[in-house]
Amino acid sequence: MAEKSEKTLRHIAFIMDGNGRWATKRGLPREAGHKAGAEVFKTVSEYCVDIGIPIVTVYAFSTENWKRPKREVDAIFRLFSQYIEEAFARFLEKDLVIRFIGDRTPFPKSMTDRMEELERITAGRKNTLNIAINYGGRDEIKRAVNKLIAEGKTEITEADIEAKLDTAGEPMPDMIVRTGAEQRISNFLTWQSAYAELYFTDTLWPDFGKEDVDKAVEEFYRRNRRFGGV
Ligand code: FPP
Repeated sequence: MAEKSEKTLRHIAFIMDGNGRWATKRGLPREAGHKAGAEVFKTVSEYCVDIGIPIVTVYAFSTENWKRPKREVDAIFRLFSQYIEEAFARFLEKDLVIRFIGDRTPFPKSMTDRMEELERITAGRKNTLNIAINYGGRDEIKRAVNKLIAEGKTEITEADIEAKLDTAGEPMPDMIVRTGAEQRISNFLTWQSAYAELYFTDTLWPDFGKEDVDKAVEEFYRRNRRFGGV
């Protein structure tokens, strides 16, 4: 791993883009790309924790992704449900909190119950994996402000908003990695990304791996060494 400077990488976030193109290139249905992407998500998220990055956030489904064909949306949600069930066993031994961020109101109760159960069982552990599902950065800020209004606040501070974000209590992301060759943030961590280093790679998410994480981490410390001085 890269040498540490005065600013450590405490929170890394991933926009897991390129599943569909990966599948199409192979003559496979897009769903096959998401299946491969889900495997990479497991490997990469756990690897980040193993190399000492305490907080990992992934963008799994955005508030805009509902526009996709129903068959594809259903396939993605099947992967989430499988993952949630698998996570109960998978994270028994890991020092990892699972936290779902985003608006879960449209999900069936059977799903939200399992999400809450997983969050409850893993709460209080040392590291955190935030999984963004039905997440939009603007929507998150709107929900935060509505919570403050409901409490009767008439004037708010930045700290008030931060306390109501889905990521409340966590440090802001130090680096956001986007795979799949697009260079934009796409409504991800809109509030939290204000000072994040942005890292873009052409690699499609299903082709992304541990070595690519190492490269991104090295780049973080390189940038930090160059600009971190007084
Ligand atoms: C973006 O690629 C990816 C998604 C919208 C879905 C991400 C889902 C997973 C990685 C699998 C499930 C995750 C969990 C947490 C189990 P795209 O489809 O936009 O790719 P394209 O730009 O090539 O079409």
